[in-house]
Amino acid sequence: MHFTVAIDGPAAAGKGTISRAVSREFGFAHLDTGLLYRAVGMKGGDPILAARSLSSDDLARDGLRSLDAGEAASRVAALPDVRAALVAFQREFARREGGAVLDGRDIGTVICPDAEVKLFVTASAETRARRRWLEAGEDCSYEDVLAQVRARDLRDAGRADAPMLAAEDAITLDTTEMTVTQAIEAAKVFIAQRL
Ligand code: C5P
Repeated sequence: MHFTVAIDGPAAAGKGTISRAVSREFGFAHLDTGLLYRAVGMKGGDPILAARSLSSDDLARDGLRSLDAGEAASRVAALPDVRAALVAFQREFARREGGAVLDGRDIGTVICPDAEVKLFVTASAETRARRRWLEAGEDCSYEDVLAQVRARDLRDAGRADAPMLAAEDAITLDTTEMTVTQAIEAAKVFIAQRL
């Protein structure tokens, strides 16, 4: 059985939490595609070569979840050759037997335009910055995190190649006023309707 769930949206909107929960619920494989760009950004050297030679060791290295790795990811993610090098792996993952959930920025628009379910998970920049700041545990101020979130949104939404964008047929889930449990429940309902 092939069944693809595409979950896109800005940083810290709840994509990762929702993706992990629904993959567990329905027994789907899960790919956090942001990790690919984070690993490329942290590998150093020429990012295009880094993307072409990305290994499972690169994806397992420490520090990929840090704010700095997110920044580095967002920079290399604007390079069309980097994005192109990562397409085949993501599409193959999406076709996994038993179903797959992919979360990122361009899954519903570019990677899997035929996904059975497309969700665009979003929340206000202030709410997302607050979540990131609370979970970061790093020595930084809320204002700095908010500025970073806004800068990243602008870069991700403004780039020419595969900008962050809700697919026309995506369902938007605004988690600003939702608890984690409510957001997960809403996503499960959308998916169950299409199964
Ligand atoms: O989702 P996460 O914060 O881990 O993503 C880090 C960065 O990687 C994003 O800000 C974005 O620039 C890039 N990215 C992307 N396309 C994806 C996933 C992530 O451009 N599918």
